[in-house]
Amino acid sequence: MENRDVKLVEEILSLKRERNAVILAHNYQLGEVQDIADFVGDSLELSQDAAKTKAEVIVFCGVQFMAETASILCPDKVVLLPDIHAGCPMADMITAESLRERKRELPDATVVCYVNSSAEVKAESDVCCTSANAVKVVESLDAEEILFVPDQYLGHYVSTKSDKKISLWPGFCPTHIRIQPQDIIKLKKEYTQAKVVVHPECRPEVIALADEVLSTGGMCRFAPKTEAKEIIVGTEMGIIHRLRKENPGKRFISVSEQAICPTMKLITLESILCSLEEMAPEVKVPEDIRLRAKAAVDKMLN
Ligand code: 13P
Ligand code: SF4
Repeated sequence: MENRDVKLVEEILSLKRERNAVILAHNYQLGEVQDIADFVGDSLELSQDAAKTKAEVIVFCGVQFMAETASILCPDKVVLLPDIHAGCPMADMITAESLRERKRELPDATVVCYVNSSAEVKAESDVCCTSANAVKVVESLDAEEILFVPDQYLGHYVSTKSDKKISLWPGFCPTHIRIQPQDIIKLKKEYTQAKVVVHPECRPEVIALADEVLSTGGMCRFAPKTEAKEIIVGTEMGIIHRLRKENPGKRFISVSEQAICPTMKLITLESILCSLEEMAPEVKVPEDIRLRAKAAVDKMLN
């Protein structure tokens, strides 16, 4: 670590104590951000961490919908998103108004909403899910007709595991759709003993080539358990930092140099320090929306 970074880290940690803050970081964050976090995890794990923290301030190193979920679960805490421009393009592919319209077309459908969505969209939904529990959530519902929003690929993956009638929304993750089947085929020829893990936001043709389809947290649990010494990883590249750190004896191969989520990389040590100094930008969900969105998030957590 450079001297400049050592100083930055010291300042962040001291201000964090002063503010009684906790730092949560998603598995796709820059390595140096993951390294200073109190918890690193996937969307489900981080929302559970947010729900149970005793800290007064949550510094959310991730994207907007994740900070909103923390605000939905912890209305009395200050939730900081160090760069307010850190959005999720997939979450922006659906609005509350467009969802209301679709619900009118499918009045009998139960709306299952991937957490990668705004608080307003969650407020219009019956239940939320993450990539870690989507199949379980859909299967647990006492409903045969489902409208799954906004990720068509996660929704499609769930439909291959369920007999329910699932209508899909045409949203997608611009980072995961860059991963192509040829990327995996090529690497499998090079690393013949490797296991292939991919995220369910990938295209079905990519999922068909995988040994395991897992959330980012699922990948972190799978890596130490598998006997494989080489793992081809089909998701955003940031996770490789954590996988290598926690499994020094194993080799992790990112499936594509293109698998980078630009908004996840907006959070830096500098922006974290700045947000702790200024206690901004704060993410706060308006109370009426929060209460309706919380019902959908709680249903998932329960
Ligand atoms: P996870 O919940 O698996 O970490 O996924 C979040 C995400 O944004 C994937 O692109
Ligand atoms: Fe959104 Fe895709 Fe980035 Fe995840 S990787 S935050 S789904 S754009």
